[in-house]
Amino acid sequence: MTKQIKILIGTMTGNAQLVGQELELRFDGEGIQVDTLDMDKLTIDIFHPDSIFLICTSTYGQGDVPDNARDFMAALTESKPDLKKIRYGLIALGDRTYAETYCFGGKRFDDVLQECGAERIGDILMHDASSGTMPEEEAADWSEGWLDLCDRVSLDD
Ligand SMILES: Cc1cc2nc3c(=O)[nH]c(=O)nc-3n(C[C@H](O)[C@H](O)[C@H](O)COP(=O)(O)O)c2cc1C
Repeated sequence: MTKQIKILIGTMTGNAQLVGQELELRFDGEGIQVDTLDMDKLTIDIFHPDSIFLICTSTYGQGDVPDNARDFMAALTESKPDLKKIRYGLIALGDRTYAETYCFGGKRFDDVLQECGAERIGDILMHDASSGTMPEEEAADWSEGWLDLCDRVSLDD
């Protein structure tokens, strides 16, 4: 069973934070030890294989990560740590009105984590702010299947 999840939040106006809060409640209810952490407080040392990671970030500018995720992204890109034992899920918040850069903040995290050798669990959840749906509700639905996948990989260990 999955014992520990760290939710890493990249946000500008708080939507990703709301997603993190909702998922923290749900995971906590499953008896999982959950930490929700803002990316501006993080270094790459956060990545430890005892935990599964859930990256939850929005997109700003022209397909950039939000301001509070910039340093963390730069550290990953520049130092390319060996993350072969790390598993993560990904929630990307964006808006389809930005057709050329839809959810690119999350995709940039996916690209760099893959380059570092980390293994993604499940498909990326992409939330479209122009759809009128609440990101935390979509994330809650998505998280059930994601948790099942996490349990399966944890059993293989
Ligand atoms: C100035 C601005 C630029 C944005 N740029 C993009 C973009 O390039 N691509 C995208 O998919 N979404 C873009 N968005 C949409 C946000 O990522 C989306 O609204 C998201 O839900 C915000 O989440 P947050 O409150 O956690 O920051 C942009 C929003 C604003 C206000």
